[in-house]
Amino acid sequence: MAVDLSGKPIAITGASSGIGLATALLCARAGMPVVLAARREDRLADAVKQITAQGGKAIAVACDVAEEADCRRVVATTVEKFGSVYAVFANAGYGIEGPVHETTDFDLRRIFEVNFWGSMSLARAALDYMIPARSGHILMCSSCVSKIGLPYFAPYSATKAAQDHFSRAMRVELAPLGVRVSSIHPIGTATEFFDTATRNSAKPAMVAHTSPWLRQSADQVAKAVVKCLRNPKGEVWTSALTRFGIGLSTIVPGLTDRALMRAARKLKY
Ligand SMILES: NC(=O)c1ccc[n+]([C@@H]2O[C@H](COP(=O)([O-])OP(=O)(O)OC[C@H]3O[C@@H](n4cnc5c(N)ncnc54)[C@H](OP(=O)(O)O)[C@@H]3O)[C@@H](O)[C@H]2O)c1
Repeated sequence: MAVDLSGKPIAITGASSGIGLATALLCARAGMPVVLAARREDRLADAVKQITAQGGKAIAVACDVAEEADCRRVVATTVEKFGSVYAVFANAGYGIEGPVHETTDFDLRRIFEVNFWGSMSLARAALDYMIPARSGHILMCSSCVSKIGLPYFAPYSATKAAQDHFSRAMRVELAPLGVRVSSIHPIGTATEFFDTATRNSAKPAMVAHTSPWLRQSADQVAKAVVKCLRNPKGEVWTSALTRFGIGLSTIVPGLTDRALMRAARKLKY
């Protein structure tokens, strides 16, 4: 039976734009009280205004997910304001592009702090409430590249792979305790992600050359997330074709490497 989301509170990180914002709006429309978390407070305030104007319940919490205390505060505020935390969507994240040997130690560590540790901190803070309640749903915004070490996106792919491995293990560990864990694997999505990656990368060849026509909308991903909240499943893919292609690439890695080398030559790294 589908889960009735009405009145079930959710905390979403990275809710100031893109997938997180679209998901927050859709969750509110499904009757969920929403806590929107990110660093840009003005964006969060606009989103809260939009949700409450439509009769929904929402509050904003300014947070940098790299700070464990901020993630704890997001979850504690959800419980304080809305009485419990039913779900968290660990969605905050960004990408950087460039050869591994030219990536600074600072950049490597920072992307893990935000994409990986940010998700872990949010999930672990939520579990303090979900396990005693024997109920809850943790969703992590991974990526289709979580299953493949994408050249020039190695740090990003690795953070998403780490997130995915943890999700998979936690899914099994937590099922007997009444908590569900799902990983979401979007393909290229039309959000600020590409602008941020271009700004943060010394050599943004791939992000600059990905055709906007190949990108799905943030609303498509948000719909998949809400569908997963209603009918929980372990992995959510927003493109069956990509899922098949990436599955195949793990069976024939040599062939995949040759195709990726050809693509990299065209991008002139
Ligand atoms: N777009 C794609 O093609 C794509 C594909 C697969 C997976 N994803 C994943 O989807 C997730 C959402 O990305 P998006 O596409 O929606 O891009 P986006 O529009 O750039 O959104 C990223 C969100 O993360 C937040 N964020 C970044 N660093 C943060 C930090 N240190 N603390 C708190 N919040 C932080 C940003 O808010 P502030 O700047 O206000 O803090 C923003 O709300 C990411 O995890 C990304 O890896 C994206």
